[in-house]
Amino acid sequence: MFLTRRPRRNRKSAAIRDLTAENTLSVNDLIFPMFVQQGSDIKAEITSMPGIYRYSPDTLVKEIGEVAAMGIKSICLFPNYPESQKNQFATESANPDTFYIKTLAEIKSKFPEIALMTDVAMDPYSSDGHDGVVENGKILNDETLNILGNMALAQARAGVDIIGPSDMMDGRVGYIRNLLDDEGFSDVSIMSYTAKYASAFYGPFRDALESAPKFGDKKTYQMNPANVAEALVEGQLDYEEGADMLMVKPALSYLDVIRAMNESFPIPIAAYNVSGEYAMLKAAAQNGWIDGDKAMLEMLLSMKRAGASIILTYFAKEAAALLNG
Ligand code: PBG
Repeated sequence: MFLTRRPRRNRKSAAIRDLTAENTLSVNDLIFPMFVQQGSDIKAEITSMPGIYRYSPDTLVKEIGEVAAMGIKSICLFPNYPESQKNQFATESANPDTFYIKTLAEIKSKFPEIALMTDVAMDPYSSDGHDGVVENGKILNDETLNILGNMALAQARAGVDIIGPSDMMDGRVGYIRNLLDDEGFSDVSIMSYTAKYASAFYGPFRDALESAPKFGDKKTYQMNPANVAEALVEGQLDYEEGADMLMVKPALSYLDVIRAMNESFPIPIAAYNVSGEYAMLKAAAQNGWIDGDKAMLEMLLSMKRAGASIILTYFAKEAAALLNG
């Protein structure tokens, strides 16, 4: 048979396949989300996230040493607070002496080369388990901004490199940007959780932080999974308000949103490969129903192909081990 075009020629060997690959995955793309709690000598596995642990500050610092040695250059740290330290206004989030802020400072002093990212939202510190201030069952927008601003400032003072507002309040990126600039933190980056959907895939994360909402859901502030044009409205606002990087979350069910954002905004797009996506793959792999390593790399590559240049993933260590080969 005479065929001018034989696409299989570009797949005939590993060398040719590598040569013609349109996208590649690198350890440079990855941010490793990690969990910290009060105490010492603690390494507690999260039941719904096999292989992922909550560390006390001492064991966390050791673990970060290992993570860094594997070539992972960026981490995002989330705190687990006991119920007794939560309240309606998330006051603990702005306390410079709280274990979380002190741990951030310690990480920056021990690993100055690591890019350290934090989350800005009330939920880990809120007795209501919501990302904003609750009054009569409603989540208040403008009243929340001041709390988010103080939280971001406390984190910036601890030396963090990237602030990640994940609360989905309107106007928060601009509010935080102004405050950071006024207080002399014009170098601190903002990676906005721009298109954050009201998703069932955050369940295991809320187990890890014990931060599930005490009533209702997050649908009045997180986005409707049916929408993509609205993600571009959020993107436009965050871009204009000064965000340095825009995030789409979750990743796997929202690859079209990643693509749309990548085509619309000239700044880096991040994908958050969330806890439920991690848990699903782990469960299937542990049952022997799927090849976990191959499926993981395929999933992460799909986010790159969709247009994300940054991936937050609980698979960061496993991926790094394979990529370092
Ligand atoms: C906090 C926050 C959440 C996640 C990241 N930051 C949970 C939520 O909004 O309920 C989820 C991350 C994951 O599932 O891996 N606002």
